[in-house]
Amino acid sequence: MTDSNRVVIFDTTLRDGEQSPGATMSHSEKLEIAGLLDDMGVDIIEAGFPIASEGDFEAVKAISEQAQTAVICGLARANLKDIDRCWEAVKHAQRPRIHTFIGTSELHRAIPNLNMDEMADKIHETVTHARNLCDNVQWSPMDATRTEWDYLCRVVEIAIKAGATTINIPDTVGYTAPNESADLIRRLIETVPGGDEVVFATHCHNDLGMATANSLAAVEGGARQIECTINGLGERAGNTALEEVVMAMKVRHDIIPFHTGIDSTKLMNISRRVASVSGFAVQFNKAIVGKNAFAHESGIHQDGMLKNAETFEIMRPEDVGLTETNLVMGKHSGRAALRSKLAELGYELGDNQLKDVFVRFKALADQKKEVYDDDLIALMQAGSDVEDRIKLTALKVSCGMGLEKSAEMTLSVDGVENSMTATGDGPVDAAFNAVKALFPHGARLQVYQVAAVTEGTDAQATVSVRLEEDGKIATGQSADVDTVVASVKAYVDALNRLLVRRSKVGGDVAEVSYKDVS
Ligand code: KIV
Ligand code: ZN
Repeated sequence: MTDSNRVVIFDTTLRDGEQSPGATMSHSEKLEIAGLLDDMGVDIIEAGFPIASEGDFEAVKAISEQAQTAVICGLARANLKDIDRCWEAVKHAQRPRIHTFIGTSELHRAIPNLNMDEMADKIHETVTHARNLCDNVQWSPMDATRTEWDYLCRVVEIAIKAGATTINIPDTVGYTAPNESADLIRRLIETVPGGDEVVFATHCHNDLGMATANSLAAVEGGARQIECTINGLGERAGNTALEEVVMAMKVRHDIIPFHTGIDSTKLMNISRRVASVSGFAVQFNKAIVGKNAFAHESGIHQDGMLKNAETFEIMRPEDVGLTETNLVMGKHSGRAALRSKLAELGYELGDNQLKDVFVRFKALADQKKEVYDDDLIALMQAGSDVEDRIKLTALKVSCGMGLEKSAEMTLSVDGVENSMTATGDGPVDAAFNAVKALFPHGARLQVYQVAAVTEGTDAQATVSVRLEEDGKIATGQSADVDTVVASVKAYVDALNRLLVRRSKVGGDVAEVSYKDVS
């Protein structure tokens, strides 16, 4: 294993992932995810797009200040103002990087209405400017895989000459295929003067379900940086999934002889956290981190597994940080046992946090005889980090075949309690109508998702609610053995988050997207 086989992992969960509609994260959530990425061994964290909003700027700056080992990167369009703003945010990092880009395909050149020569000049000017500020500069020709070959070579050469140290080749619309992906990188390295002196990166989208294959093929072709996100989070079909490329290189090292610095035992925990804070649940059959990825339901499989786990398992659950779902605790379990179990699941708690979680654990153990690992994870994820101005204090629903569905509810808003009864098409609809009547608002319900945490009819339900108001999006989460209670708590959590966003000048929602060309 030589160092030339070391692949740099560039995580863009907090930029490309977070910019996907609905995946907005709060400031503290971004800091938490960045901390987990750093701790897991991610080489470069793309922390955001500083010019997009005040919130984005502050998040990139704070992540830069807290980073321990990772390089912290910010995104900037091809103009001096964007690049200056990006530098202002990332310069606080021990190892900063500026990532600047422009769409180079014919379709993308038409947006700013630049001809080939004008765009080439702009690339020279902006990359030079970035490099004068920072000695670590990444440049991307957006939509590279649909850019004319000769023009692509020309602009890559200009960027290298202007001082770019990493050249990223984005497959912006998920259009390429593995052979083409490998060829493109190989030919660029061979053809472009100076191509063998910079790092080539691959940035794939998953529109045709080939992002992982295309990224690994690009590495075969000579790329040594993979851009990816946790759970493949990202717009449309998402980005390359970090956990997939990392585990593919690890498990099939015999034929994909590359390595990363990622501690794979941390994958499961960060996957759960990203799913929870983004509100994008991981599909059950998702490779590596899906709930069913290590489940062996069928009789034949179970028999084989009992004789030899390798019969149907190509990796061990513990390699990705999955601990067995076993009966862990009950209502007699103490605080120390809870602390040590949570630590095993990846949650290190301070005394005050533990106190709060213990109260909620006891309440759960009173309702549910058997408390499993997954129940504890749901309990942790349901804990809110925002001030609860609105609180659910009482709820009684009535429903049944042929009966009117109604919800009798008491909400406390800034300490003042009010009650009312509302009706609806079902118990959840009636309860949501009651919330709306007790706390009138114009937010629109975008997503309402329910999942059972474990098997059995006494399983907890985890509920995710996404609300939108004037372009600001907030996602709330909750878990409870009572699905209606969990639903209302998730709705109230989303409202509390929306209130925080409402009160922020400039908010933390992007005012410009990286697709706005200016
Ligand atoms: O997909 C893309 O082209 C991007 C660029 C900004 C690198 O995300
Ligand atoms: Zn992208």
